[in-house]
Amino acid sequence: DCNMNQKLVEQNVNGIRMRTLIAGSGPPLLLVHGFPLSHEMWLPQIMHFQSRYTVIAPDLRGFGDTDISTGVVTMEQHARDLNSLLQALKIEDPVSYCGLSMGGYIAWEFWKHFADRLHALILCDTRADADSDEGVNNRLKMADLVLRHGPEAISTAMIPNLISESSQQRQPHLSKNLVSMIEATNREGIAASQKGMAARSDFSNQIKNIRIPTLFIGGSEDRLTPPEVMNWMSSQVPESKYSEVSNVGHMAPMEAPEAVNQMMDDFLTAGANA
Ligand code: MLT
Repeated sequence: DCNMNQKLVEQNVNGIRMRTLIAGSGPPLLLVHGFPLSHEMWLPQIMHFQSRYTVIAPDLRGFGDTDISTGVVTMEQHARDLNSLLQALKIEDPVSYCGLSMGGYIAWEFWKHFADRLHALILCDTRADADSDEGVNNRLKMADLVLRHGPEAISTAMIPNLISESSQQRQPHLSKNLVSMIEATNREGIAASQKGMAARSDFSNQIKNIRIPTLFIGGSEDRLTPPEVMNWMSSQVPESKYSEVSNVGHMAPMEAPEAVNQMMDDFLTAGANA
């Protein structure tokens, strides 16, 4: 049974109880989920990498089975939680950090504060800049809507921004999984990170200073963080490469797990050790 070496653990991290799925053994691979999801979005990667890596897939503050904090949860707070989690788990070797979208926004803060903990970066469907005024307003409206009416008010409407049309047609279970992941998320948790994203810093002038092997992965149909955004970041980060996944949207690791696993594998076994 290939699930035998998976376990869910709970750690006290910066005043909250954090739930993490740990699987396998070997060099540490940290998987940081997007918004408003949970570690479950990484199941295809967990299954693939657990035979050779210690896969660490937490539920971030306010998501999945991790405790919620109300108010605003900043990207820096999430990065500090991840550092404290690694401490609590006694992971001392530098990690390969793989984050999607909000998991990428958190990666910049993790790099800023804890660069010594990083062996390599894999950044899926994300961006380095902050929001426009309109973007900030939309986030604050969404946070308010979710606080008043719950995640059901946004779940179905989010799908066209998360997966491509062809994924929706060919893999209808993906929308169902995403909708149930979103609807299982606490409204306060969603609002707090949404406000944290609205307040996030602009890293676009800083990423040129990243000295860690970096792989960018993005879906060709990603509407939220499209290929030109991914390409631009890759042009800035010295030791980096951009790999595009055709026919998929913002949730490339869920929509095209085999292609994404292969890209990650090639990078981790060769690129990240170069
Ligand atoms: C995500 O996938 O994490 C979110 O869509 C990010 C965002 O809202 O900018």
